[in-house]
Amino acid sequence: MNETVILKNLSIKDGDNTLVSKVSMTVEKGEIFGLVGESGSGKTLTAKSIINLLPDNLKLTADEIQTAGKDLLTITKNERRAHIGNNVGYIPQNTVFYLHPMIKIKNQIGDGYIYHMKRSKSEALEKASMLFNKVGFDNPKNILNFYPWQLSGGMRQRVNIAMALMNDPKLIIADEPTTALDSTVQRQVMQLFEEINKDMGISILLISHDLGLVRHYSSSLAVMYAGQIVESGHTEEVFNNPKHPYTQLLNKIIPSLNIKKNELLPEIPGYVQDSGRDTESCLFIKRCPHAMEICSKCAEEHESNGHYYKCNLK
Ligand SMILES: Nc1ncnc2c1ncn2[C@@H]1O[C@H](COP(=O)(O)OP(=O)(O)OP(=O)(O)O)[C@@H](O)[C@H]1O
Ligand SMILES: [Mg+2]
Repeated sequence: MNETVILKNLSIKDGDNTLVSKVSMTVEKGEIFGLVGESGSGKTLTAKSIINLLPDNLKLTADEIQTAGKDLLTITKNERRAHIGNNVGYIPQNTVFYLHPMIKIKNQIGDGYIYHMKRSKSEALEKASMLFNKVGFDNPKNILNFYPWQLSGGMRQRVNIAMALMNDPKLIIADEPTTALDSTVQRQVMQLFEEINKDMGISILLISHDLGLVRHYSSSLAVMYAGQIVESGHTEEVFNNPKHPYTQLLNKIIPSLNIKKNELLPEIPGYVQDSGRDTESCLFIKRCPHAMEICSKCAEEHESNGHYYKCNLK
């Protein structure tokens, strides 16, 4: 099998309100796959569906959610938890607050390893020291004795990455892993992800607002808009030949999409809507410079050589 994630027709609802609609994507083994989109477009909810962490108030439907070789829809809740714990490392959004700030790192770094891999605490600490070395700490044993609040943002993110590596995952999902960091540290952290990907063969699902960053580090990407994927394919192909007007506009405003929900995109007037996301019509219609009459009825899907887009333009 050559895929780490296969998602087919994932939809997520909050009661009757559709938040994510018919998302399909494939992350190949050993690649860095970028998931980009404005705030509120559904990136985090899509990622959480892949690792069985969707909030309880939301309901998902899908034809397939295959993560690290198993379709989560065909196994029990307990099997899902064990499978994800053994195979996926997760770096949630806003991880500056992920570790408990008042508990020493040595007393929380190994929890998942001890639980899922059935190891002792001393084995966990040994592994953590080895990984701290790998993520660039000169004195790993010292780091174990720190409280998270004593670390800088960049150091904390390195600890989070080491933590995500504890169970030798096949996949790491990193949700906006560099958003809170300044640009030099951002580059160092991304280089670390690149190293992990190349040296250890771990697939990475990289979620980001930052199209420039995704362009630089990912080999494939998907662009989300209002709960749908509007374009996806090999990074080079999508950037050299963007088909969807949204991607074309984003392409113009590289390097950064680092804006808050409901804030205007500089060159794309209008907002990402929160409702009506399961419509057949094009969701980008109100912001699209090329909108046609047919776009209020449907949006045609195109695919050729792995390059997908959903738009009535040919
Ligand atoms: N638990 C929830 N209950 C109801 N609605 C939710 C819940 N979590 C997220 N949403 C809504 O679902 C939509 C998608 O949210 P999601 O967090 O996936 O966006 P995102 O693309 O990750 O945004 P950001 O870039 O700001 O992190 C948003 O409109 C959000 O308000
Ligand atoms: Mg998010």
